[in-house]
Amino acid sequence: MATQPPDFTTRLMIDAGIGKGMRILDVGCGSGDVSFVLCDLVGRSGEIIGVDHDAGAIAIARHRCAAYDHPALRFLECDLLELQDALGTFDAIVGRRVLMYQKDAVATIRALSKYLRPGGIMVFQELDTTMVPASLESFPLHERAQAWIREMIAREGADLHIGFNLHGILTRAGLTVESVRAECLVQTPDTPYGLGNIVRACFSRITALGVASAEEVEIETLQQRLNQERSASSGIFIGDMMFGSWARKV
Ligand SMILES: C[S@@+](CC[C@H](N)C(=O)[O-])C[C@H]1O[C@@H](n2cnc3c(N)ncnc32)[C@H](O)[C@@H]1O
Repeated sequence: MATQPPDFTTRLMIDAGIGKGMRILDVGCGSGDVSFVLCDLVGRSGEIIGVDHDAGAIAIARHRCAAYDHPALRFLECDLLELQDALGTFDAIVGRRVLMYQKDAVATIRALSKYLRPGGIMVFQELDTTMVPASLESFPLHERAQAWIREMIAREGADLHIGFNLHGILTRAGLTVESVRAECLVQTPDTPYGLGNIVRACFSRITALGVASAEEVEIETLQQRLNQERSASSGIFIGDMMFGSWARKV
């Protein structure tokens, strides 16, 4: 079976210099996906602490933890602005789709910098909707589904343009930016892409926030209708764009 090329997050972490033996803090770790990527990168001599203020997400992360059998991986239920000094300092602090939710991103980075050793790196991967959706042809259902997610995140208070703001945020917080990159998720007529499944995962938030009703979404058939729309076209639809950046504490 062909091996999958490393995804955006893994490449970002590797290029930022995450490697064997490092001590890493994963802020807003959710159910642990990024922490689990880090397990492989830091190896058994490294240490990873994931923190999130959502008790449910931390419970899932702890449950999944067993499968990774890493000697120094742990998850703490904690707000990223209320870290205990006893945690010490880290070689790297990383976060994915978390900075966009902070009321004052500059103040957040400044506060987190205290837990970064001199010479350490801060790595963030964030969504940005400034340039998407984009397509030459019309994809009405894809555009609607993408708009539900975008509007849901906006109503939850996220900065939808944080990618373009990343360099400024990290710099104003006193760090030296070493790289900013962006990548799009390109959906072709025959690439399987689970936009409908993403909407399903967000369904309760979308309806609770009044972004769309259950009747509008028709969740049970959404993925199938999206697949039909893409396969009926010869065109390409780009719905998601992510930014990645790393910056150093000098
Ligand atoms: C979109 S999820 C991303 C989860 C994970 N980083 C990933 O990429 O799979 C954002 C996470 O950030 C957490 N979060 C947001 N603000 C936070 C804060 N101030 N302190 C701790 N966790 C926070 C949320 O609870 C949520 O689990």
